[in-house]
Amino acid sequence: MRVVLGVAGGIAAYKACSVLRLLTEAGHEVTVVPTAAALRFVGAPTWEALSGRPVSADVFDGVPEVRHVRLGQEADLVLVAPATADLLARAAHGLADDLLTNTLLTARCPVVLAPAMHTEMWSHPATVANVEMLRGRGVTVVEPASGRLTGKDSGPGRLPDPEDIVAQALAAHSRTGPGSARRRIRPGASAGDLAGRRVVVSAGGTREPLDPVRFLGNRSSGKQGYAVAAAAVARGAEVTLVSANVTLPPPAGCRVVPVETALELQEAVRAAVAEWTDVVVMTAAVADFRPARYASSKIKKTHGEDDRSAPTIELVRNPDILAGLVADRAGAASPYIVGFAAETGDESGDVVHHARAKLARKGCDLLVANEVGVGKTFGQDESTVHLLVPGSDEVRTVGPVGKDVVAGAVWDVVVPALADRGTAD
Ligand code: CTP
Repeated sequence: MRVVLGVAGGIAAYKACSVLRLLTEAGHEVTVVPTAAALRFVGAPTWEALSGRPVSADVFDGVPEVRHVRLGQEADLVLVAPATADLLARAAHGLADDLLTNTLLTARCPVVLAPAMHTEMWSHPATVANVEMLRGRGVTVVEPASGRLTGKDSGPGRLPDPEDIVAQALAAHSRTGPGSARRRIRPGASAGDLAGRRVVVSAGGTREPLDPVRFLGNRSSGKQGYAVAAAAVARGAEVTLVSANVTLPPPAGCRVVPVETALELQEAVRAAVAEWTDVVVMTAAVADFRPARYASSKIKKTHGEDDRSAPTIELVRNPDILAGLVADRAGAASPYIVGFAAETGDESGDVVHHARAKLARKGCDLLVANEVGVGKTFGQDESTVHLLVPGSDEVRTVGPVGKDVVAGAVWDVVVPALADRGTAD
């Protein structure tokens, strides 16, 4: 594949050397297009030596071959790492004042920008608007990592690890590049072991409205589902994230479908599965019941001076979405279905005991049981989970670990199971 690796002028430019290395070692033909500022951080000889190709930042070099147009036209993927606030602004507004921004304007292939800058610059409304504009045009803007920045401060704005950037760039290419529609490629043959796979993840907690101002809800933060979705993107999957009432920024590269209620969540998951899905991961905390009636105006405390009565709220059952997906599946083409369960131990058995019963009841392919209790799981950054599959007494316990580690452990179980089901052509 022909890749243009743009490098903008930030201290993280040195990390682009590793990005370049990973791409060339994977057999891609990479032309590096630094900005003039990037060349003050890492010089042209380094890029030329690592890419084995001539390097220029200037539109007036190579004029006879019309390089400023040709590079973009011929590329299969344009990746800019690091993308500075200035580069994002120029790209968002279609400026073409150097070879890299000319290339961005002439490219018709997937474009992936990996920003790196100080937190203040990343969160500035101008940058936020530019990123939104770029994403709205179909550009993949990778979410920066959080951590130590150039100075003593830390926060979001770090360039993600080169491996992550390359995985996300190749995933964007397999999602939107030529011939990508319903493209099935051998898992593991490309960027990540989920390349060519379609994944649906539900996340967050449903809200069941009572009246225009009140709802029945739960404490799910959506962190676990978002981590599962982000890990799937990083491993090369095309991800639809059905998101119920989550306030976190969605992971880069996911298609996000916002929902509020259990019924909306069911419809969104079903619609995504109907399109073709290899894996469904139900991390959402779905309300088992909803109010039988929705009051179209606010329920008042009293109806008369002496009225001290309290209303009774009648509930009806919501569908069990996960069990419905299991019941609907037909034959070999059915998706691999993952359930999450929040469990506590009690006098009748421990968490694993209850999880095993739930796995049997739900009929899914993998159940991830979260230990809950005071201070455990809901909204917390670390959790302990037990992974159970049908037909095996083995239990894989992970934790206490961050939700991204849990997400990785889930995919580590799912990926070989998908391979065992046979590779699509
Ligand atoms: N789930 C679902 N639809 C529901 C309830 C739950 O699809 N109405 C899914 C959740 O997304 C999760 C799994 O089922 O993947 C287990 O959720 P949990 O609330 O633990 O299951 P319940 O069947 O509601 O069991 P319990 O009676 O223990 O609450």
